Amino acid sequence: MADEDRDHSDLSVTRRAFLKGGALATGALSSTLIPTPADAQLPVATESDPRRSVVEMTVNGVAYRKEVPNRTTLLQFLREHLTLTGAKMGCDRAQCGACTVVVNGRNVYSCTTLAVEATGAEVLTIEGLAKGDALHPIQQAFIQHSGFQCGFCTSGQIMTTKAFLDRVPRPTEDEARRAMSGNLCRCAAYKRILESVMTASRLMQA
Ligand code: FES
Ligand code: FES
Repeated sequence: MADEDRDHSDLSVTRRAFLKGGALATGALSSTLIPTPADAQLPVATESDPRRSVVEMTVNGVAYRKEVPNRTTLLQFLREHLTLTGAKMGCDRAQCGACTVVVNGRNVYSCTTLAVEATGAEVLTIEGLAKGDALHPIQQAFIQHSGFQCGFCTSGQIMTTKAFLDRVPRPTEDEARRAMSGNLCRCAAYKRILESVMTASRLMQA
């Protein structure tokens, strides 16, 4: 193996090990957010380059099949390979929630999920919520309550809300507060975000 190849290979392993370790180190909250091996099909390593894999997933109802470096995160896959830039890069270490998307019905930090882990999954991003010009009730509720200020965290807040309300359609405020606790807002719009979640719950029942 050429020195250059060996360096890249080592970096790839280090990055992967870091991502796995980081995900585990975040404790109980994050462990519920990361897809389990049972959720994912095994990625297909390419014959020509073991550092790359073919990943297949459905994003917002559209099937994609792409060959990517093994170390590609789901967030990078969405933003750089599919140009779906609604999910944001905040901390890049499973702490802020700005990168949240829904994978097989669960809210997931896409910055610490590898694209290959999502192989075979159904992924929903903020771009897939509205139906044409009709906003999703959660989006309507966030607008109604101004559940944002700068908006950087908002797509993550909304996608966590989506997974939560699909699971718990009529939550109490305490349940909603706990469900949203993995999504930080540097503008501290928490009161209005909570109001948005509760209104979204009512709108989704209507
Ligand atoms: S960017 Fe993923 S949790 Fe912060
Ligand atoms: S609205 Fe600015 S970080 Fe949440």
